[in-house]
Amino acid sequence: MSAQTESVDEANRVEIFDTTLRDGEQSPGISLNTQEKVEIATQLARLGVDVIEAGFPITSPGDFEAVTAISQNVQGPVICGLARTQKADIEAAWGAIKDSARPRIHTFISTSDIHIEHQLQTDREDVKGQAKAAVAHARELCEDVEFSPMDATRADVEFTAEVCAIAIAEGAGVINIPDTVGYTTPDEYTAFLGRLYELVPGLADVRLSVHCHDDLGMAVANSFAGVLAGARQVECAINGIGERAGNCSLEEIVMLLRTRRVDHGLDTTVVTEELARTSRMVSRFTGYAVQPNKAIVGRNAFAHESGIHQDGVLKERTTFEIMDARDVGFESNQIVLGKHSGRHALQDALEQLGFVVEGNSLNQAFKRFKELADKKKQVTALDLEAIVSDEMREAAQGYDLAWFEVEAGTRREPVARVGITRPDGTEASGESGGDGPVDAVFGAIQAAVETECELNQYTVSAVGEGDDALGEVTVMLRAHGRLASGQGVSTDIIEASAQAYVRALANALEGAAIREAESIVDDAAAAPYPPGP
Ligand code: KIV
Ligand code: ZN
Repeated sequence: MSAQTESVDEANRVEIFDTTLRDGEQSPGISLNTQEKVEIATQLARLGVDVIEAGFPITSPGDFEAVTAISQNVQGPVICGLARTQKADIEAAWGAIKDSARPRIHTFISTSDIHIEHQLQTDREDVKGQAKAAVAHARELCEDVEFSPMDATRADVEFTAEVCAIAIAEGAGVINIPDTVGYTTPDEYTAFLGRLYELVPGLADVRLSVHCHDDLGMAVANSFAGVLAGARQVECAINGIGERAGNCSLEEIVMLLRTRRVDHGLDTTVVTEELARTSRMVSRFTGYAVQPNKAIVGRNAFAHESGIHQDGVLKERTTFEIMDARDVGFESNQIVLGKHSGRHALQDALEQLGFVVEGNSLNQAFKRFKELADKKKQVTALDLEAIVSDEMREAAQGYDLAWFEVEAGTRREPVARVGITRPDGTEASGESGGDGPVDAVFGAIQAAVETECELNQYTVSAVGEGDDALGEVTVMLRAHGRLASGQGVSTDIIEASAQAYVRALANALEGAAIREAESIVDDAAAAPYPPGP
């Protein structure tokens, strides 16, 4: 039986604060456009998270636009915008989230001496003043305010308590205690939170939250310690993405709480059957592959290789499985379409997968589906997810792969020629040799776009199983000093590689252009966008 249907009382309900689109998006090379962010946020709402931290609106016009679009289009969860303590940050956050039915401003300032002295270059008194003013101002704009003392786990607990007490007195309803650098351990974190409860009586009347990074591989364990110590919000990200080694993995903490609920009584209201799909979507859009042995959502998380294990599972699943794969959304979707399936069947299948595709996008998706169904006997839910995501990228790109040809073999040097459609609609062509057909195509793309790139990462994986499976390629490259990723999907992996390369290059060029435009504004206004926390 899935524990999904059993309700959990409010006192034992742990809220899930998803920061995939904020802390997660700060991972190197991730370049999500607004449409992709809205798509991920919509899926997070289907997953049933309580809060979506949609971005850090002051950091760039692109971030501001994406947070605004999410606030206007995604219903259900609280939509949160991050802000430093500066007035301009708080106003930018409010400007971007104000259209949400449930807006929240999350403001933060460090309380560790190492940050106060070296990063902020100020003193404790000033930090107290900034926290007070920031929460007060945020509360003038928004009812729901969260405050974080950054780097709390390396800070003096007494001072952190003083700052938290100030934030609560000014009206913060959520106090989040970040392990910003992933340094703490479960025992130490438990003790830290316990001491805060003693020092700040008002903490019992607000929601305590935990935000743990994974530098020592302890993010989930520390977050779990946090909820056992009284926290009722966990900040986490799909696939554990985030700064450096990442954040607490959403799917892991959710399934830990669900699977061991009988022991501690705590649970979330996440629709766990949506976990696998959400993980695939985030991996696809970010270009961050999920390792096969990743807990909960890795391809092998429910695979049994040893004969003894296989034998046991066939006799009784629970002999070697502590969770049911269907509870996390594996093996649960039976959608199979074929070449005789019509537009309606496709639209219906896409709707079941959470994609609302109409008008021209439906025509385009149908065309793509028919092409695939001609090559593949059965088109599955996994294939549909892959092609719809691919169409979305296609629509958003400035550069496009118009055509390519490649000659290669073991008895000749490879040579590739490509045609690239530029953002202004004109076509550029390029030719190159290389170490193999894929390398030659990459060289030809660089020649066509007249840009040198350094390839950082190249991965190919199959969507589903079988000889006719779609190939999905992720490319991460650096161009004009900017690291960016791109993905491509096709039954032909050279075509998928070429698409992925063009998209990564387009993302890098766009990122570099935005950075240049921002630095012009910065120079003029002397108001730099801050680096992420
Ligand atoms: O890691 C951190 O401290 C953060 C804060 C902004 C909560 O991301
Ligand atoms: Zn963080």
